[in-house]
Amino acid sequence: MKRDTFYISTPIYYPSSNLHIGHTYCTVMADAMARFKRLTGYDVMFLTGTDEHGQKIQKIAKENNNTPQEYVDRVVEGIKDLWNTMEISYDDFIRTTEDRHVRRVQAMFQKMYEKGDIYKGEYEGWYCTPCEAFWTDTQATEQTCPDCGRPVERAKEEAYFFRLSNYQARLIDLFENDPEFLQPESRRNEMLNFAKQGLEDLCVSRSSFDWGIPVPIDEKHVIYVWLDALSNYVTALGYPDEPEQYDKYWPADVHLVGKEIVRFHSIIWPAMLMSLDQPLPKKVLGHGWILLEGGKMSKSRGNIVDPVKLIERYGVDALKYFLLREYTFGQDGLYTNEVMLNRMNSDLANDLGNLVSRTASMIEKYNNSIVPPAGPLEGTDSELKDLALSTAAKVEEHMNRFSFSQALEEIWTLIRRTNKYIDETTPWILARNEADKPRLETVLHNLAESLRIVSVLIYPFMHTTSSKIRKQMGLWFAEPVWEDTQVFDTMDGEVVKKGDGIFPRLDIEKELEELEKLSETKEDEKEYPPIKDLIQYEDFAKLDFRVGKVVSCEKHPKADKLLVFQIKMGSETRQVISGVAECHKPEDTIGQTVIVVANLAPRMLRGMESKGMLLFADNGERFEFVTTIAPDGEIVS
Ligand code: ME8
Ligand code: MG
Repeated sequence: MKRDTFYISTPIYYPSSNLHIGHTYCTVMADAMARFKRLTGYDVMFLTGTDEHGQKIQKIAKENNNTPQEYVDRVVEGIKDLWNTMEISYDDFIRTTEDRHVRRVQAMFQKMYEKGDIYKGEYEGWYCTPCEAFWTDTQATEQTCPDCGRPVERAKEEAYFFRLSNYQARLIDLFENDPEFLQPESRRNEMLNFAKQGLEDLCVSRSSFDWGIPVPIDEKHVIYVWLDALSNYVTALGYPDEPEQYDKYWPADVHLVGKEIVRFHSIIWPAMLMSLDQPLPKKVLGHGWILLEGGKMSKSRGNIVDPVKLIERYGVDALKYFLLREYTFGQDGLYTNEVMLNRMNSDLANDLGNLVSRTASMIEKYNNSIVPPAGPLEGTDSELKDLALSTAAKVEEHMNRFSFSQALEEIWTLIRRTNKYIDETTPWILARNEADKPRLETVLHNLAESLRIVSVLIYPFMHTTSSKIRKQMGLWFAEPVWEDTQVFDTMDGEVVKKGDGIFPRLDIEKELEELEKLSETKEDEKEYPPIKDLIQYEDFAKLDFRVGKVVSCEKHPKADKLLVFQIKMGSETRQVISGVAECHKPEDTIGQTVIVVANLAPRMLRGMESKGMLLFADNGERFEFVTTIAPDGEIVS
């Protein structure tokens, strides 16, 4: 029988640095969905990968003294390791530097060009010569480079454009008439308004850097990184030259993406597919962000949560469960260690862990480790049975709406009800009396059945825990089958063997301290760029450093990031400008002793002269003055 297919993707992540808990969150959701669909009978394609081109990657590689390819190869290896550790069941992993992707993106570009949807024009913007970067009006506010803070110039470059405007009407129609296409609802309205305001043609090539896929008709240009990246969803399937997988799985059932990139997926991507006369994905789903106290996770703030550290301490399944259960799909949620630890303790150690160990040990103790057959049901038994048999349908319903949290809550309702069933039926009292033996057997049977059903229901979310439970319950010989959630009287004669607790109880106070320590050691492990190439003494001897003292300091009138210092160096006082306004208040710097690079050629910064440079220690977040106790004017050598 031919099974229905289900194609789900995650964003392809930038290998600019290691991934954090936010990326893990998205991939864990996609994995749970893929496993759920496989378990419920679908032929699944689950795609993830990495988005490796573009100026940003080129720049980071250079800072690390690597070629871009060397750099991404190393980071991508780490990303694959993370997904292996997290037991992510992807069917394919696409890297945009792979040949299969490169030539297919070129073929797609060519097709759109031949169709007349791509044309050559001129791109006007702000150019930063030292960075070789083009910036738009909104990026280069105050006409300075958002990367280095130096002045930019108005410039034009030849570029290729995609006629996004051609597809405005069809996109509006899509948002208005296909409510399934884009969710959540709030995003759909936003995109509809965006499209209604008018869509400008999109610049889809760059010639100011070269780390990208060459434009097939003009090798001086590389293809815009978003055009390159979005194509991955079909190039991985073989489009356009190897249509077998493509015909089987396309259109995708769902592109799962973070809310900040919904626009690329619901405007640019559909327009590209329209231009190629290909069907659109059935659904683009925007999920919310995991926030930390103080804002979004960001590498430069150094406030990222490293999933590897959490896995080492609590295990893969505990982390997955927490991510899927704690956050409401589509909304932002706050991460704190405390929230996570409480969730693990109450749901995993208490509810599920206790149920497993109580059930296994009672069957061992009261029935020689053998699961008894089904017996006559009383009121409370039927209640448990009905709940157990009706849970799968509810889980399925929630999963079809990507409500992971509610799906798990349904399963935990059953788990908690089963624990309550133990308290109600008091097997330890029944065990005292030989006359109660038949009743005891029925109770033990029902507990085993409920736990068996739980082991199937949790399989898509925590398959290792599922197998641990099945092993303890003597079910190790059979893979979980979804249909088995629809029967309650199958167990009879299984040999139960109680194992170690599946989730240990955590001492929350102690764990909070440990996690705090882990984040402190992070400072030491922080990765700094490697030491630059060697220079000779003669090169060094050309530099003239002097001790200086700040006599006054003001903000640069035309640039938010710049401070204008007057520095006394012995008998001379001179003006030096530094881009440290974000970390230092002008008035706080007065009297500060500094080190000046005194023979650096003067330069103009936004209309004011800077004579030389001050030295700062830069930890990625703050610039600290490099200082000395020596008096101003002295030579530093
Ligand atoms: O945008 N909370 O890659 P990216 C939740 N290469 N999810 C988060 C998150 C957070 N704090 N931080 C990141 C790119 N994510 C492009 C995508 S697709 C054709 C190209 C997740 O490395 C979330 O899914 O910046 C977000 O959309 C994605 O990581 C962005 O990853
Ligand atoms: Mg991003």
